[in-house]
Amino acid sequence: METTITAPAATPTRQRLAGRVALVFGAGSDGDGWGNGKAAAAAYARAGARVVAVDRVLAAAQVTSDTIRSEGHEATAVAADVTRWADVQRAVQAALDAYGRIDILHNNVGITSQGGPVETSEETWDRVMEVNVKSMFLTSKAVLPLMQAQQSGAIINIGALGGVRWTGYAYCAYAASKGAVNSFTQSIALQYAAEGIRANCILPGVMDTPHIYRQISGFYASHEEMVAARHKLSPTGRMGDGWDVANAAVFLASDEARYINGVELLVDGGMHARCH
Ligand SMILES: NC(=O)c1ccc[n+]([C@@H]2O[C@H](COP(=O)([O-])OP(=O)(O)OC[C@H]3O[C@@H](n4cnc5c(N)ncnc54)[C@H](O)[C@@H]3O)[C@@H](O)[C@H]2O)c1
Repeated sequence: METTITAPAATPTRQRLAGRVALVFGAGSDGDGWGNGKAAAAAYARAGARVVAVDRVLAAAQVTSDTIRSEGHEATAVAADVTRWADVQRAVQAALDAYGRIDILHNNVGITSQGGPVETSEETWDRVMEVNVKSMFLTSKAVLPLMQAQQSGAIINIGALGGVRWTGYAYCAYAASKGAVNSFTQSIALQYAAEGIRANCILPGVMDTPHIYRQISGFYASHEEMVAARHKLSPTGRMGDGWDVANAAVFLASDEARYINGVELLVDGGMHARCH
């Protein structure tokens, strides 16, 4: 069983991000369909931005950039591992070479691991922290000086509801890493607020993305069982999808959100407010 989420029609909308350049780390999708990063990259392009789609897997970045170009927008694909400083610097340079500036930094990369402290190995703990948190430190380190020079920029970091609530899954490293994403984002938001730079988090709840069929499925006997259980977890009776995250990201990156800084925007159908 695979995700069946399809892209909404590309209806003409106001070009909220016209002239902007978006650098999206983790812009590929972990399988066919629409991950949160791929949908965000496409949504930025639909809103007028030129997009640099970065992924550890070049082919995945290329699928995203090809999709964006097939809709008549501009995009470039770059291969880079977000846990490596040299790779991150190379991706940033590729964005500057292609489009001359970076207005939006979107950090989507995140991995899940099952287990509490007893079941989680030290190596797994370190890897989750490296991929989910250190990655954002490295990309911010590379991009913030450019945004400071421009005196403008928007950073969107993808956290998770699991970073602020128990969502039914025992994944202590993932939860701790996503909690760290929130405090890291808030720290940047406040340090650079007076320089025209905003940083915000999006916290997705249970989303139907290709990622869950690879990384969450181990909690269940089958994909069918997983999908049914995740629909049930949401107060809406349905999981969200990558486009729900993408639309929130376009808003946070746009000038319409110019006074929104340091927030954790829950995109979870209200799941955070549920107490059973
Ligand atoms: N799907 C959900 O239910 C859900 C819920 C909450 C939060 N999230 C968060 O959403 C984000 C991912 O969503 P997605 O569906 O787009 O996942 P995804 O796995 O489909 O996409 C992530 C992309 O990141 C790439 N990637 C992985 N490691 C990388 C690395 N070291 N360097 C560069 N690229 C790398 C993968 O190749 C993949 O193409 C994660 O941060 C995840 O924690 C998802």
